[in-house]
Amino acid sequence: MFSKSAYKVRKKRMPKSLIVYEIIEPDKHAPLAREKHLCYICLHLSGCQESMNEAFRLPPLFQLTQLPTPLHPLPRFSRRLGKDVEVWIKRDDLTARGLGGNKMRKLELLVADALAQGASDLVTTGAAQSNHCRQTAAAAAFAGLGCHLVLRGEPEERPGGNLILDRLFGARLHWSGSSDATMLMEQVLAELREQGRRPYAIPLGGSTPLGAAGYAFAWREMAQQAEKLGMEFNAVVFATSSGGTQAGLSVGAGEAGWTGELHGISVDHKVPHLAEVTEALTQATAALLETARQHPVIMHDAYLGEGYGMVGEAEREAIFSLARSEGLLVDPVYTGRALAGLIDLVRLGALKGRVLFWHTGGVPALFAYEKEIQSSHL
Ligand SMILES: Cc1ncc(COP(=O)(O)O)c(C=O)c1O
Repeated sequence: MFSKSAYKVRKKRMPKSLIVYEIIEPDKHAPLAREKHLCYICLHLSGCQESMNEAFRLPPLFQLTQLPTPLHPLPRFSRRLGKDVEVWIKRDDLTARGLGGNKMRKLELLVADALAQGASDLVTTGAAQSNHCRQTAAAAAFAGLGCHLVLRGEPEERPGGNLILDRLFGARLHWSGSSDATMLMEQVLAELREQGRRPYAIPLGGSTPLGAAGYAFAWREMAQQAEKLGMEFNAVVFATSSGGTQAGLSVGAGEAGWTGELHGISVDHKVPHLAEVTEALTQATAALLETARQHPVIMHDAYLGEGYGMVGEAEREAIFSLARSEGLLVDPVYTGRALAGLIDLVRLGALKGRVLFWHTGGVPALFAYEKEIQSSHL
C-alpha cells in the first residue's frame, strides 16, 4: 500500500528535521508529476519525530502541516477552574493549512495514498459544517486534485463558517437532502468513474486505519515535547466522533508505554456504538503500524446534551471561559463539547494534576453558530 512504486526515488538527507525522498522519475499518471511544488514525499516531518521510524514503520506523507504544533499551559483557565489542576493544551487547531484541525494529520497520509494511486479527485462526506470536509477541500487544492463533498441535509440559504471555505477551496458540493449521504457518495464516485476520472474515496472523518495512523505519530510528537519540558501528563482529554483521532492516540500512547488516562469525550454517539467503531479501527491501526500495543480509552457520553451540533449552556460556558481567560477559541460542536467535559470532570474530582486538552480544531464553525453562542455570558 505504501510502496513508492509509482515513483523512482532517491533518498536525500536534510538537516536534522527532514528526510525526504526526491522524485527523479514520477509515474506519468501521477498528478504529482505535474506539480513543481510537490517534488518530494516527506517520510519524516520534523526533528521532534526523529525516532518515529524506530517505533513505527512509516508510510509516506504528503506534507500539509507544520509540526510540531504548540504545546503550552493554560494558567488563567486552570486558575479559573479553582481546583487542584494544571491544564495544558496541544494546539492541533494550528496544523497550518486550510485553517488547521485534526484532519490534516490524517489527510497527509490519505492524500499521499491518493496521489500514489494516481487519483484525480478526493471525494468525502460529512455534516454541512464539517471541518473534515473543509480540510479535505484545502488539501485537494494544494495537491492539485478535484474535490467533491457530499454534505448531509439541504443547502443553506446563507452559508457561513466552513461552507464559505469549502467553496473558496474550489470544492463541488452535493447535498443529500433526506436521502442517505453514504449512498449519494457512492453515486458521485460512480459518476466520476463514468466520466473517466479516478476518484479517491475518503470515508467520514478520514477515519481509516491509514488516517488514524496520523494520530499515533501525533502522540509521539506530543510525548517528545513533554519530555523536553521534563514533565508528564496524568490525563489527556479530546473530542471523539468518527474514532480516527481516538484510535491513533490509543495506539501512540500504547506504543509509548504511557501510564496516564485517555479520556474521549463523545460528540455524537453513545458509548456502546462508539466503542464498537473505535475497537475495530484501533485494532486495524495497530496492525497497520505493526504494533500490538494500545492504551485503554475512557469514553464519555454524558456530554451529548441535545445531540450533535446542538449548543447548550455547557458548550457556551467552555467557549466563553477559554476565550475570556486565555484569548483562545474552541468550536461549538467538537472542542467546545470536549472542553465542557473536561471542566465537568475537573469539578467532579475525576481529573487532577496535569491534564492535557488536545485541541482538534474546528474554530471556523463558530462563524456559523452566531445565534447559539449569544447568551447571558456576553
Ligand atoms: C474539530 C474536531 N474535533 C474532533 C473531531 C473528532 O475526530 P474523529 O472524527 O477523528 O473522532 C472532529 C471530527 O470531525 C472535528 O472536526
